Amino acid sequence: MDSPFGLLAELTYRCPLACAYCSNPLNMADYSAELATDEWRRVLAEAGDLGVLQCHLSGGEPLLRRDLAEIVAEAHDLGLYTNLVTSAVGLSRPRAEQLRAAGLDHVQISIQADEPAISDRIAGTPSWRRKIEAMGVVKELGWPLTVNVVLHRNNIDRVAGVLELAEEVGADRVELANTQYYGWALRNRDALLPSRAQLRAAEVVVRAARERLRNRMDVIYVLPDYYSRYPKPCMGGWASRQLTVTPNGDVLPCPAAQSLPLPRASVREDTLERIWAESPVMTAFRGTDWMPNPCRSCDRRELDFGGCRCQAFQLTGDAARTDPVCHLSPDHGLVAKAVEAANADSRADALPLIPRPHGVRPSPRTPTA
Ligand code: SF4
Ligand code: FES
Repeated sequence: MDSPFGLLAELTYRCPLACAYCSNPLNMADYSAELATDEWRRVLAEAGDLGVLQCHLSGGEPLLRRDLAEIVAEAHDLGLYTNLVTSAVGLSRPRAEQLRAAGLDHVQISIQADEPAISDRIAGTPSWRRKIEAMGVVKELGWPLTVNVVLHRNNIDRVAGVLELAEEVGADRVELANTQYYGWALRNRDALLPSRAQLRAAEVVVRAARERLRNRMDVIYVLPDYYSRYPKPCMGGWASRQLTVTPNGDVLPCPAAQSLPLPRASVREDTLERIWAESPVMTAFRGTDWMPNPCRSCDRRELDFGGCRCQAFQLTGDAARTDPVCHLSPDHGLVAKAVEAANADSRADALPLIPRPHGVRPSPRTPTA
């Protein structure tokens, strides 16, 4: 068993956006009793003792936590590299200065498209202009900036514009990540999944941009796994290098695992060290012993770890099956059918995106110590 390298600290699932591709849980009420500041302090200290080096402060929208600067300062004092993963709604100049003073190392801002009306429609709320302003503040304060764009059928044709925008705002890195189909995103999958022709066109643009922007801006492009022969090595292997702590203190090997029928483990009831080493949620799919065939006898089992457990569960109802993305999976037809539909001549491009309802947010109570 390795030490975890990265901690995803999901500070709250409250969020001002309503993205159609959201992968956060739908049962928001279960997460309304958010960890207090002191509880996060303890989690960060225990994570540092476990070997964690990077802390990604995420959500929902982490800026909705009034104690964010205190949490950042604690992580900073513990020597963790801190990355704020934000929609930037609420990242005013005074708030940014407060976070800078607290020692925040890096900011990642999501944007939904290069054009305001399209971006706001996908986000389900007006936010584009505030995001661009916040990107300016981030650069002025001297932070490294990553611009993150979740790609799908409705914005992938705009990749060239997105790259230009990232260049204009002075991003150090742009992350073009095709949608992962968990949570609300799975409900919208047919409207979100791009066609093969769209992907080919985007790849040409990305390749040219990488060449042009070499040494100036890193361009990360994450392909949709539905179009791959083999699955992604999700999280680098179950409970291998990453862990997630959810707003109510549940500990998970990945952000989507709360949907799996596994016993809960909470920092409110146990130490992070014991949870990492011994809890059923961490040990269930660690390593390769749990694997069924075809993974068990496959040469790639130490490379992709049988793919994604959450995707296997969402598509087949059994988290221990081979990820249906794999062409060797007995369930591959489930993925092939979705891809076929996305490429059918008769495919109506106007399938509506259903924004994630705002109404399922927990109460905006922010506990403090
Ligand atoms: Fe990976 Fe399993 Fe497919 Fe082999 S059979 S490539 S281990 S998912
Ligand atoms: Fe949970 Fe892939 S998202 S294992």
